[in-house]
Amino acid sequence: MSEKRVYIETFGCQMNLADSEMVLDALAKDGYSVCDSSKDASLVLYNTCSVRDNAEGKIRGRLDHLKGVKKERPEMKIGIMGCMAQREKAELLKKYPHLDLVVGTDQFVHMPALIEQLEEQKQIAATEFGDFEDRNWGSIRKDGINAWIPVMRGCNYNCTYCVVPNTRGKEKSRDPQLIEEDIRRVVDQGFSQVTLLGQTIDAYGKTLGDGTNFAKLLRRVHAIDGLKRIRFITSHPKDITDELLDTIAELPRVCKHLHVPAQCGSSRILRLMGRRYTREGYLDFVERARSRMPDVELLTDIIVGFPRETDADYQETVSLMHEVKFAGAYVFMYSPRPGTGAWNLEDDVPMEEKKARCNEILAIQLEHQEQWYKSLRGKTFEILVEGPSKSNPERLSGRSIGNLNIVIPRTDAAGNKRDHLIGDLVNVHINDSTNLTLFGDIEE
Ligand code: 5AD
Ligand code: SF4
Repeated sequence: MSEKRVYIETFGCQMNLADSEMVLDALAKDGYSVCDSSKDASLVLYNTCSVRDNAEGKIRGRLDHLKGVKKERPEMKIGIMGCMAQREKAELLKKYPHLDLVVGTDQFVHMPALIEQLEEQKQIAATEFGDFEDRNWGSIRKDGINAWIPVMRGCNYNCTYCVVPNTRGKEKSRDPQLIEEDIRRVVDQGFSQVTLLGQTIDAYGKTLGDGTNFAKLLRRVHAIDGLKRIRFITSHPKDITDELLDTIAELPRVCKHLHVPAQCGSSRILRLMGRRYTREGYLDFVERARSRMPDVELLTDIIVGFPRETDADYQETVSLMHEVKFAGAYVFMYSPRPGTGAWNLEDDVPMEEKKARCNEILAIQLEHQEQWYKSLRGKTFEILVEGPSKSNPERLSGRSIGNLNIVIPRTDAAGNKRDHLIGDLVNVHINDSTNLTLFGDIEE
């Protein structure tokens, strides 16, 4: 048998990153080593995202490309996991005859056994749903500072644009004991921060039926010695209770950063989106959060060009941006997804219009960030140093207790490298800024 080497490429959300880390661990236990390029791999895996058509388009491109590679190296196995695998199931094997494996969002931990079956079967689709076994499977984590910790899977909402309830199934919370064990292990391995993951994380605990909720989970995680920061994503505005906000405000190591997508500023469109809150409901959440934590950073997702979004509806999103002044915003053009509630609504906002709306919202956000970041010059923030900055390795980057991206020089005034600070909390004095980054130096 030739050497077992896996190459994995991960698309989409952090849950996919966490799943990729788990599948790599399962494969490592089966004798695989991880490689950096598909060229050297005996197994190529794509962990896919279906949230917009362009995410799937990238994967279609990768698969088309591998067709030729597979002709030259027929022994190389190709597998698709993640949301696209779950959405299209065995159909993918028909569309791409050079594909070996399609593995759904509840099945990927069984990857080694599935690969073994390929010795008897030409192509395999394992996409059964609903029996993801909740135990600590192990993960291969590259980062060393931040560990992704899934605390629940699936989603019980049915936002009409969203494919996630179809691709990840019903909401299911993990046993808090297993979560705690998982976190204690990463702390022992030297991680400073965890980011708890769930599609609607503030609904954590509902499926456990024993009174557990996300506020209680946060308290339990916060009590773990050695953890410097606790982050979590993503929240649904309807599930953020006052108890949860009080808890976040009270616990010093829980980040004052909430990713709570508003999606839109028009109550009429929010109803068509099935979001279960109005503009006023969202603003009420903002008020409840800010009255407890004046500096809390709110991150939003915005979809422009949802079916029937008129200019008047869109202007309500513009005004929401001005009214809330988000700390950050991801802005997307609506992309119709098969099998969702909105699939049958005519995609009637022209592409040009979607692009213009998307660009304008982004510009509003960046303008706000530029002004706000300027106002932070001269202030001091405690940052967790995460590593060399991706855009400039001469700097180290870290984040505030909110989610501000703050960079410092990688060497001190005497020319000594400061890499020993990675994983530590340091106080940084801000002296410059752009609309994306704050620059500073360690306070003496
Ligand atoms: N089209 C565009 N954006 C979408 N999102 C989810 N589904 C779609 C879609 N069909 C966005 C939402 C969500 C984020 C993860 O992706 O804003 O919060
Ligand atoms: Fe999608 Fe809505 Fe669930 Fe978020 S809450 S994953 S947007 S269905």
